Amino acid sequence: MIFDTHAHYDDRQFDTDRTELLNGMPDAGVGTIVNVGASLNGCRRAMELAGEFPFVYAAVGVHPDEVGFLNEETFSQLEGWCYEEKVVAVGEIGLDYYWDTESHDLQKEWFIRQLDLARRTGLPVNIHSRDAAEDTFRIMKEHAEGIPGIVHCFSGSRELAAEYVKLGFYIGIGGVVTFKNGKKLKQVAREIPLSRIVLETDCPYLAPEPYRGKRNQSGYIRYVAEEIARLKGISCEEVIEQTELNAREVYRV
Ligand code: NI
Repeated sequence: MIFDTHAHYDDRQFDTDRTELLNGMPDAGVGTIVNVGASLNGCRRAMELAGEFPFVYAAVGVHPDEVGFLNEETFSQLEGWCYEEKVVAVGEIGLDYYWDTESHDLQKEWFIRQLDLARRTGLPVNIHSRDAAEDTFRIMKEHAEGIPGIVHCFSGSRELAAEYVKLGFYIGIGGVVTFKNGKKLKQVAREIPLSRIVLETDCPYLAPEPYRGKRNQSGYIRYVAEEIARLKGISCEEVIEQTELNAREVYRV
């Protein structure tokens, strides 16, 4: 069944129908969802959702745009959450030079500290990188060796994807691969072995064609799997099955 490795059902866009939508997931072919925290409050909500739905798990971490809220006290709170039963990863963490909400130094500092947190607590990581490919890769190379993880919503070159695979990471692919202007990601999906790919929504954002621009949800991952299958010349079922195995391996669920 479909394994959505990166979703944000805590988002306000799901306030009107969250329970109904999530209850319908098994019938839509979705077997497992990891709800990823981006802010401290998002982490709390992610853990609540994991407590409410048996097939939902939580990742806890602070997104680069939100690291201004981290201090010793909130960081130790975050560390405590890592030991909660349904918390399966530290994420999403990384660098975002597109929104540039916080200084690069502060982003890097908390990125490295959260990578160390993952190592200490034995959890994999979920990595966010936007317009910061070089710095993200350098930090991962220096600080993430041996930590399993996913580079979420991968947007880099095929060469960079290959480098991450060499380091042992999985490449997270979502709706963008179905876009007409998603050429670079199509190339990545074609060349990276299926054994290193995981599927994701990043919902409510980045809905695949034919829902581009609409609110995204885990059931739409089928369109992502179909496109990867087309690019690789294999069946959609094989893509869904293998990526589920990959996701189970990295998140250990
Ligand atoms: Ni996200």
